Amino acid sequence: MKKLVLSAATLACATFFAQAAVAGPKIWVSMGDDAYQLLRAAHPQAKSTESHDVQVNVPRAGMLAKAVGSPESLTTRTDRIHVLQVDEDQLHRLSTEVHEKLHRCGGYIVHASRAEARQSLQELRGHLTRAKEATALAPSYAIDNQSTVTPLLTQVQESQVLSTIQKLSDYQNRFYKTSHGTAASNDLFNTWKQMAAGRTDITVSQFAHKKWPQKSVILSIKGTHAPDEIVVIGGHLDSTVGFLTGENSRAPGADDDASGIASLQEVMRVLLASNYKPKRTLQFMGYAAEEVGLLGSDAIAAKYKKQGKKVVGVMQLDMTNYQGQPTSDITLITDYTNAAQNNFVKALATAYLPELTVTQDACGYACSDHASWTKRGYAASFPFESSLAADNKLIHTPNDTLAKSNNSAAHAVKFAKLGLTFAVELASDAPVKAGQ
Ligand code: BES
Ligand code: ZN
Repeated sequence: MKKLVLSAATLACATFFAQAAVAGPKIWVSMGDDAYQLLRAAHPQAKSTESHDVQVNVPRAGMLAKAVGSPESLTTRTDRIHVLQVDEDQLHRLSTEVHEKLHRCGGYIVHASRAEARQSLQELRGHLTRAKEATALAPSYAIDNQSTVTPLLTQVQESQVLSTIQKLSDYQNRFYKTSHGTAASNDLFNTWKQMAAGRTDITVSQFAHKKWPQKSVILSIKGTHAPDEIVVIGGHLDSTVGFLTGENSRAPGADDDASGIASLQEVMRVLLASNYKPKRTLQFMGYAAEEVGLLGSDAIAAKYKKQGKKVVGVMQLDMTNYQGQPTSDITLITDYTNAAQNNFVKALATAYLPELTVTQDACGYACSDHASWTKRGYAASFPFESSLAADNKLIHTPNDTLAKSNNSAAHAVKFAKLGLTFAVELASDAPVKAGQ
C-alpha cells in the first residue's frame, strides 16, 4: 500500500524537461548534488562530465517574520549542479528516490544535447552576477503612490477571483499538449482581449511556441513616459497530473496555478476599471508549459533578453489560494529571486497590507517561472501561499480543486492586492535614473 502511494505521488512530479521529450537510450541531464548522490548510490558507474557551483539566497534559521527584508535574515547556499548522461530507467528510479528520500519534486532537468545542458548551466551559474546587473538597471523602490494605490485596493473583489479559479479549473486539464490546454489558453486570450476593448494603448497577444500547441498569453499596457521599461506580473496557465497526463486526464490545477492567474487577472481588471495609465509598460503574462520545465516563460525571457528588452521587475504568482499555516500569509521565496526587489515587496506589504504576516522560505531548486527571468539577469520575486513544509499536498492530482480552499478565494485576494501594489508602485515611475 505504502509503495503504491509513493509511486502515485511520484507520478505527480513533473519531469523537469528543458526540451520536448527526448527519446533514445542515453539522455543528457543536469541535477543538483542531492539527487546526484542518490543516483550514484544506486548506479556507481554514473559520472558527471562536469559540475559547477551556483549560489542562491536562503533564509537564515531562526529569524523572525519581522526580520524579513533585512540583509541579516539571509545567508547563501551553494548548489552544486552536475551534467551527465544516464539511461532512461535510471531516471525513473531517481524520480521515485527524490520523492521518497528528499520529499520533493524537481530531481533533474532533461536536455536535448550536451551542448544544451552546458549552456543552461552557464546561464544558471551567471545568475548571481547577472542579478547584480539587474540591480544596476533596478528602478527606485520608493513607495510614493499612496493616493493611487489605496483607493484601488478597495476595488479588489473576492467573487471575481473565485469565478476565475472556477472557470479555469473546470477545464478537463490545461496540459500543454492537450486540446483542453490549447482551448484554455485561447479562451484566456479572448477574455483578456475583451477586458482591453476600446483601449488603443493595450495589446493582447498570443506567444506561440514551436514545439507544442499551447500558447502563452500577454496583455501589455503601454507606458506613457518610458514604454521601453517593462514591469511583468506572471503566472502559468497550464496544469498537470505528472508526465503521464493525457487528453482524458483530470487536472483541475485550481491552486496550481488557476489561483495565480486569477490573482493577476484581478489586478488587471481593477487597473482597467479605473483607467490607470502606467508610466512604464505593464505586462501581464499567462505562461504555457510551466509544468514540464518552465518552458513557456523560458522562451519569453530568452526572447526578451535577446531583444535587449529592459524588464525592470517581475513578480511570479504561482499558487496563491491555499494558506498552509495560520502563522503566515505570504512567503517570499528567496532562492532564484532578487533580494533587493524582495525587500521592496516586503516593504509594499508593510505599507499597504499591514494586517498580513510575511515570512520567507526557499524552494530548493528552480521551482517556477521566476527562475526563467532570474536566469536572464532580470529581477524577479515569488510571493508564495505557504511555507514549503506546509505546502498543498494535492497539487498535480485530480484533487487540486477549490474544495481544498473551502470554495473561497480569500487567500488569493491577498496576492491580488500585493500584485496591485507592485504594479502601481513600480510602473508609476520612469525612467530608471543612472546610478540608482
Ligand atoms: N507550483 C509549482 C511549484 C511549487 C510547488 C512551488 C510546491 C512551491 C511548492 C510548479 O508548478 C511546479 O510544479 N514546478 C515543478 C518544477 C518545474 C521546473 C517543472 C516542480 O516543483 O516539480
Ligand atoms: Zn505545478
